[in-house]
Amino acid sequence: MSPSAITPETSPEHWIFAKKAAVQNRSHSSSASSVASIRLNDGNSIPQVALGVYKAPNGQETEDAIIAALDAGYRHIDSAARYANEEACGRAIRRWLEKTGARREDVFVCSKLWDTDHGYEATFRALCSSLDRFGLDYLDLYLIHSPAEDEQKRLQSWRALETAQEMGMVKSIGVSNFGAAHIENLLQNATVVPAVNQVEIHPFCQREALVELCNKNGIKIEAYSPLARGHKLEDPTINAIAEKYGKTPAQILLNWNASRGNVVLPKSLNASRIQSNLESFNFQLSAEDIRTINALGSENYVTGSMHKSDD
Ligand SMILES: NC(=O)c1ccc[n+]([C@@H]2O[C@H](COP(=O)([O-])OP(=O)(O)OC[C@H]3O[C@@H](n4cnc5c(N)ncnc54)[C@H](OP(=O)(O)O)[C@@H]3O)[C@@H](O)[C@H]2O)c1
Repeated sequence: MSPSAITPETSPEHWIFAKKAAVQNRSHSSSASSVASIRLNDGNSIPQVALGVYKAPNGQETEDAIIAALDAGYRHIDSAARYANEEACGRAIRRWLEKTGARREDVFVCSKLWDTDHGYEATFRALCSSLDRFGLDYLDLYLIHSPAEDEQKRLQSWRALETAQEMGMVKSIGVSNFGAAHIENLLQNATVVPAVNQVEIHPFCQREALVELCNKNGIKIEAYSPLARGHKLEDPTINAIAEKYGKTPAQILLNWNASRGNVVLPKSLNASRIQSNLESFNFQLSAEDIRTINALGSENYVTGSMHKSDD
């Protein structure tokens, strides 16, 4: 190009600027997501929908599913030491960040302290091992997977989570499978109120009293097994409502849960179900249909657990 042909639009500076802007736009649009976020009691935000990865293998299939989910717009992965797939989750997240130019803080990562690791020091060891397996510097959320029966151990684990949060190893801390008595006991002894309680919640297992207690104390409900593990997709009430809205039964189950303000964690390794689960939130169930669904059940656990879960 001759010097006379250099105009403001063709100058190298302009070209470099345009290139930079294109890269920035690309990384911005790839990290943008339509999933709503919810504010936790510690001021942090949590994407309302997560990809659950219970029973997902520690290999390529899970990596591909997580990348499909992130490409589709999920920004939250729910794993656990117990699921033995933290390496695959970490690899997938790092690959996706590299591919898109998105930043670590664009993906919300949760893991959980397994039952055999309760106690103050054991909790730190377990958390460090989880971080190593993910290949990450911090987790967005770390949960006690289920309450230790020994109260002292349970409280020591919680104190370790409080310290880990102070140290920046985890942004938010919470519990899972805590019943009302565990929550009340923790509230009497904790410095930090848990940000979430992750429990089985779906239209057939609504657990109103526990939900109310958590709501009253600013503890967000994370609904696990929100698809009732696929066992209730033939239910006639759910199917009639699905037909009325032109949605799938799975989408009705997920929409109902999100309409209560819960974080929902549908698990799938199938790209098209990952996508259709994410499309569960772009419509509103009528008050009457919500009442009909509310009448379905209150304590029908599909995970076979009461407050204690093996998963
Ligand atoms: N804290 C705890 O103790 C605990 C306990 C249980 C679960 N969780 C968390 O919650 C997540 C979800 O719970 P979950 O895995 O028990 O069950 P879920 O999400 O209720 O159901 C998963 C099952 O439904 C199938 N599925 C997914 N989308 C579907 C769709 N659109 N239509 C039909 N079937 C569909 C999946 O199969 P495909 O993969 O073949 O699609 C899988 O078999 C877990 O992955 C885990 O992250 C936590």
